[in-house]
Amino acid sequence: MRRVTVPLLGVSQDRSYEVAVGRGVIDQLDDVLHELQPAPRRVAVVTQPGIGIEVSTSFPMHRFEIGVGEQFKSMATIQELCERFAEAGLTRGDVVVGVGGGMVTDVAGFAAASYHRGIPVVHVPTTLLGMIDAAIGGKTGVNLPHGKNLVGAFWQPSAVLCDLDTLATLPDREVRCGNGEMAKYHFLTGDDLAALDLEARVARCVEIKAEVVASDERESGRRAILNYGHTLAHALEIASDHQIAHGEAVSIGLVFAARLAERLGRINSDRVAQHLDVVGGLYGLETDVPHVGSADELLALMFRDKKAIDGLTFVLDGPNGVEPVVGVDAAIVLDVLNEALSS
Ligand code: GLY
Repeated sequence: MRRVTVPLLGVSQDRSYEVAVGRGVIDQLDDVLHELQPAPRRVAVVTQPGIGIEVSTSFPMHRFEIGVGEQFKSMATIQELCERFAEAGLTRGDVVVGVGGGMVTDVAGFAAASYHRGIPVVHVPTTLLGMIDAAIGGKTGVNLPHGKNLVGAFWQPSAVLCDLDTLATLPDREVRCGNGEMAKYHFLTGDDLAALDLEARVARCVEIKAEVVASDERESGRRAILNYGHTLAHALEIASDHQIAHGEAVSIGLVFAARLAERLGRINSDRVAQHLDVVGGLYGLETDVPHVGSADELLALMFRDKKAIDGLTFVLDGPNGVEPVVGVDAAIVLDVLNEALSS
């Protein structure tokens, strides 16, 4: 078992928290809850049908299920959840425990951030994507008809338990999605993540994310590097009407970002080959841009990305490592896209 600290040392308050990574760490939930200050009176488990992971604690527990599917990542779900919290009489003296994938922890986290202006939340992510991304760093939220994750809050969990045993029953598609997000971490530092076993690799991804979040909790700059591969990925998700899942789209977006960085003279062809080796080789993920829209359509969607505040924004590899690059020349992006779509 490994422990990673997400260090959030505020001026007035230490909001740092521990992430436990290993097999069977779900059994530590009761201890983790007892260690919270102040100790909670009751536990509100938020989960989904079909997750198949039950948690037990010595606290009085309430169980709330949210719907399965992106359409339930909505304000209506938050309203319903908060109403059910109120019916159960939950207060700030209680704790929410999110048990599930990224959608569950995003929704549970946002409900916790909003209900009574904020009650503590502990996450028990049950997917790889949840463990290395969604459950860490305090981004919570839901979608609007106008786009994904457009309403939310930064609300850091009090603890996160990443039990690798929960991954045993994940459908192949969920594994692919987790690997797409994990591939990203191979390029954020100089680490050889491929040399690590699963526990060490997950813990290292958490550690990398923790360091980035600690340096820029509210994404005023550097935290955007966690969106490496995401600019094209978001466009592919929308253009395919979400037939391409997030992690699948990220794998394609990573290789595209490498090709774009090469075209911009930021990296050489060896570095592009490293991207192909990790994404296509190590993880066996898709690297080609699928024909879910023309280059012009994908470009238009990238301009609508909520991070594209000052023109077309990409996170790109380069001599200083991976960094956000604002105002990338649209003609060059279009050219690289057209090339990718015609190969
Ligand atoms: N998923 C990217 C972030 O947490 O900033």
